[in-house]
Amino acid sequence: MPQSKIAGTGFYVPQNAVSNNDLTKYMDTSDEWIQERTGIKERRYAHRTNETTTTMAVEASKIAIERAGITPQDIDFIVFATLSPDYYFPGCGVLLQRAMQMKEIGALDIRNQCSGFVYALSVADQFIKTGMYKNILVVGSEKHSFGLDFSTRGRNVSVIFGDGAGAVVLQPTTKEGQGILSTHLHSDGESAEILAMYNPGTHANHWLPQKLADFDEAEIGEMFFSHDMIDKAQVFPNMDGPAVFKKAVVKFPEVIMEALTANNLTPADITVLIPHQANLRIAEFVQKKLGLSNEQVYNNIQKYGNTTAASVPIALCEAWEAGKIKEGDLVCLAAFGSGFTWASALVRW
Ligand code: COA
Repeated sequence: MPQSKIAGTGFYVPQNAVSNNDLTKYMDTSDEWIQERTGIKERRYAHRTNETTTTMAVEASKIAIERAGITPQDIDFIVFATLSPDYYFPGCGVLLQRAMQMKEIGALDIRNQCSGFVYALSVADQFIKTGMYKNILVVGSEKHSFGLDFSTRGRNVSVIFGDGAGAVVLQPTTKEGQGILSTHLHSDGESAEILAMYNPGTHANHWLPQKLADFDEAEIGEMFFSHDMIDKAQVFPNMDGPAVFKKAVVKFPEVIMEALTANNLTPADITVLIPHQANLRIAEFVQKKLGLSNEQVYNNIQKYGNTTAASVPIALCEAWEAGKIKEGDLVCLAAFGSGFTWASALVRW
């Protein structure tokens, strides 16, 4: 049975860099608060009208495909992870297929937020292993800036997120020990609402946190969007930051150790850990817990903020471009986010 190797990586971030100080024009926050709590110095925002989740994905994909030594017409399957699609439906997979003039291939959209890319990689890996596909494009792309609450009310969320895209091409390899060694996927929906965007959605109000759920019963089910939803901030992402933090610092190390144990490896064997860029403090906690050196962990949240499904492939590509990942190296990808979902992948480059 073939293993899947990452044959090419690419990423794209918009030109527009927005500093923490820039955000103080819209909300009561400060560079000091943001850097101290998250490590973020700046993030990129896509052009309001000319750039979308799909157009950024196209740019990242072009690079990944070229580096894999193939053309868009050679791609035989797309797996696209995003929480900020161009349309509520259809998903971005078909838009990418159209934009890149690919053949009439399968296109699958993944909705696993911050873990989306690792989930997508795991799905693609199965298709390569069974021999069904030979060139799979796996993408994570996000345009968060279109839908954040930039008032002080939404500051705990809006300062964290940024826009960008990353992509990889998966191909089969028969080289002994090379490629994706294993992937590990998990979920726990018990606290689904504490990091969520509720609308548009078909939820019943009783799921929502009390402060946001104060609805007239007659309105429920009659509307997709209403002014009331906007007034109650139900159209923006909602997050209980400290609760997310507490769960993340447990699940990140757990899922990384699960991957290492499954392959009879230890943290010392990791060449580079690419953690989802949720918060620098979370990544530092994980590093300490696993006893990893600074060289063993790649972070770039300082420049891009949290780009959700795009953060792992962007960081992976940047680390590769910086020469931190070479043939034979052991790369660990790990993510945690809304759902909650969390996941890891261990890759022998
Ligand atoms: N600027 C200034 N003050 C802010 C702020 C901002 N952007 N956002 C929140 N605050 C305020 C709060 O209102 C609160 O004020 P109060 O004490 O007067 O009530 C205070 O800062 C502390 O808020 P708290 O939420 O407890 O801060 P924190 O230390 O937990 O940091 C996060 C907040 C969001 C940075 C942190 O909880 C976090 O990173 N959590 C994980 C989030 C994450 O990773 N999400 C993505 C999941 S993949």
